[in-house]
Amino acid sequence: MRKKVVIANWKMNYDFYETTSFIRNFLNVISERNINHDKEIILAPSFPFLHISNQILQGTTLNVAAQNIHQKEKGSYTGEVSALMLKSIGIQKVILGHSERREFCFEKNNILLEKIKIALKYDLNIIFCVGESFIERNDNKQFEIVKNQLKKTVFHCSLDEIKSFYIAYEPIWAIGTGKTATFEQAQTMHEFIRILFLEKYGENISNKISILYGGSINDTNARDLFSQKDIDGGLIGNSSLKLEKFLKIVQS
Ligand code: 13P
Repeated sequence: MRKKVVIANWKMNYDFYETTSFIRNFLNVISERNINHDKEIILAPSFPFLHISNQILQGTTLNVAAQNIHQKEKGSYTGEVSALMLKSIGIQKVILGHSERREFCFEKNNILLEKIKIALKYDLNIIFCVGESFIERNDNKQFEIVKNQLKKTVFHCSLDEIKSFYIAYEPIWAIGTGKTATFEQAQTMHEFIRILFLEKYGENISNKISILYGGSINDTNARDLFSQKDIDGGLIGNSSLKLEKFLKIVQS
């Protein structure tokens, strides 16, 4: 059975105090209430707080992910953060291809492929996001869009490299809007993605790769979504900022 994964993408929301107190409170609540869950939990704070977050989580089963890296190894790229820098503070995971970065930072598939390659070079696990816009879904182009996003990026990776990936299907129209994809819509897309992996990499990889859903997941819809056969957990924005809500999602 594939492991379920829940990732908190805190985006540009929490400052130092909010980040560290959330993590400490979360760990306390899990231990005080003796909470059992079957999920891999990953927290993605902003760059300045990755190091301290990782330190607080040492010795626990929780992990930290960065929200981005620059595509170049090193050099005169003012304000950017490299894969090597993350590695040097013990970070093992990075989110790439998020629609907010595609839209606001103009990250096209060719740049994302460069980011993938540099992340792999430094042994980072990649949470790679794909998803269609509202207009694309209205035009019934969602399958074509997602296939193309994968074809131009992730599918350039070898059989060995592909083992470092989690895939997150995040329909843009569902992100931060309160409009969750129905579990049928999400399941249909996840199944489609899994078949693409089957065709490209074979049964072993397609059975093992975790495909997460993201887009207005909350503590009331998580259970239905996570119980679908091809949905292996979630990438959560807003609802991961509230401890009790996030806890319920972890337990869904
Ligand atoms: P929301 O859960 O706020 O819709 O955000 C989803 C997301 O973008 C996670 O990466």
